[in-house]
Amino acid sequence: MKLFIVKTSTAEHLVKKLKKQKQLVEVIFPEKNKEDSRLFPDGEVYIRISQAEKLKKGRVVVLHSGSPRPNEGLVELEMVLQILKDDKVAPEVFFTYFPYGQQDKIFMEGEINMAESLIRKLVNYYGVRKIYVIDPHFGKEKWLKEYPVTALSAVPLLVKKARGDLGNNILFLSPDKGGKRRTGICGVKKERIDSFRVEMSSQEINIKNETVAVVDDIIETGGTLLRFNDYIKKCGAKKIIVLATHGVLKSGVEKTKKTFSGLYLTNTINQKEANIDISDLILKNILKK
Ligand code: R5P
Repeated sequence: MKLFIVKTSTAEHLVKKLKKQKQLVEVIFPEKNKEDSRLFPDGEVYIRISQAEKLKKGRVVVLHSGSPRPNEGLVELEMVLQILKDDKVAPEVFFTYFPYGQQDKIFMEGEINMAESLIRKLVNYYGVRKIYVIDPHFGKEKWLKEYPVTALSAVPLLVKKARGDLGNNILFLSPDKGGKRRTGICGVKKERIDSFRVEMSSQEINIKNETVAVVDDIIETGGTLLRFNDYIKKCGAKKIIVLATHGVLKSGVEKTKKTFSGLYLTNTINQKEANIDISDLILKNILKK
């Protein structure tokens, strides 16, 4: 059965390599600025899948990144899924980065677990058969077990590349308990004061002469990594690098690059500083039997 990858506009940067795998996959829609995909002058999204008929005969994976433009991206994704639903195609969705993934719990009455409700809607309303997500913030949440979600990780790729470049004398640390839970890499208690400020606990880490690699899922403002940098410097760290899967905000990524001795960042989101390509991770997983 032919495998079609339907890419949305935020996944454009990922398809170059996938397109070369012509014998395995066919990447379609939309070519930007052509008649299949555009924005109206007021910002509304226009989408058309001109080859929708063809998709009925194959397996369809929709490739989407939740950043940049998370809200506009969701509208685009829903329009793609609605077109497929109307054509009776039950697709799979591959999120290289899941939008609203950090809103994965309800803390106060009146809130919504946006990550779960989005997944529920994709499965129950759009008939999505399978969802792949790279390093989702909700990777270890209990509710996830109710849905056909495969949580993948780019951390082994990042670790392999850092070890290849710098050797094995690297101490891998996660900047918070959540990171520890997600990656299994030792972490420190972090307290978030607000969306922009975080504090580390006073727990001491024994750092010898090795390079310290801070592993995190997301760089947004860069606040977490910068605070962690101050903290481990006080514990004696000299050379500190960062390994991160998703570079959400350009400003945070640039700040991180400037502060640390090295940055390994994947291209789950299209950022100039991304230097680890995840195309093979995508291919390997969608082609897995
Ligand atoms: C938090 O739970 C995440 O793992 C990241 O540490 C956090 O989202 C990074 O955000 P920022 O760069 O704004 O500190």
